[in-house]
Amino acid sequence: MGEIRQSIFKDRRDREILFRSAKTEDSKGVIRYIRDNQDRFDYMISNSWEVNQDAKYEKDYIEAHALRKNAVMVVAVHSERIVGLLNFVGGMKQRISHDGEVGISVAVDYQGAGIGRHMMEIFITWATENPLLKRVTLHVMGHNLRALTLYQSLGFEVEGRRRGAVVFDSGRVEDLIMMGLIFENSKDFIEQSEKTWIDARES
Ligand SMILES: CC(C)(COP(=O)(O)OP(=O)(O)OC[C@H]1O[C@@H](n2cnc3c(N)ncnc32)[C@H](O)[C@@H]1OP(=O)(O)O)[C@@H](O)C(=O)NCCC(=O)NCCS
Repeated sequence: MGEIRQSIFKDRRDREILFRSAKTEDSKGVIRYIRDNQDRFDYMISNSWEVNQDAKYEKDYIEAHALRKNAVMVVAVHSERIVGLLNFVGGMKQRISHDGEVGISVAVDYQGAGIGRHMMEIFITWATENPLLKRVTLHVMGHNLRALTLYQSLGFEVEGRRRGAVVFDSGRVEDLIMMGLIFENSKDFIEQSEKTWIDARES
């Protein structure tokens, strides 16, 4: 089951933040969080109106995460309010089920206090302990310095750059950087594919 161990963390502003897997009862809280924050982030691919904000849909989505072995949704909660969200979905097809994509955000008023780092750390612990997973993928916009610094410090490496992949309403164009984290005990496995790729380039 996609579930992380519940923990409490004191952020840099001395607030007690609870981290746990999302429950179906969180559906309205998740929607509120998205409604309050999504358009205030300068680094998300989806506009708030492009995110499904139907409580029933969200409830089913959370339930599906809990049932799948290679998916997890983590909420950061303060004063009974969701202040951070992490979502990981592993590949649906068997051949790519050992990899998946993670996305994270922290409410604007709570950023820069250590919450994002802590949430990523507990996610990585869950992922590395999950026998189904060998790596994690994410995409980050080229101008998102805070997120890039965070991911690199956690061991993610740049694996590709999709040039000009994002266009904002203002016309601003950004690259999308693909990063991967390969688990220590999966490195030998991953190297097999790397060798094939180098051989193909040389031939
Ligand atoms: C990116 C995000 C999730 C990070 O969470 P956070 O709680 O704000 O970050 P933290 O306080 O845990 O800091 C994480 C690390 O970012 C880096 N960082 C923080 N502020 C930074 C800055 N101004 N410039 C560069 N790096 C910075 C530091 O390495 C920091 O770790 P450290 O303080 O332990 O050294 C959060 O800021 C956010 O939601 N941003 C908007 C949405 C978003 O960009 N999501 C990610 C899309 S890929």
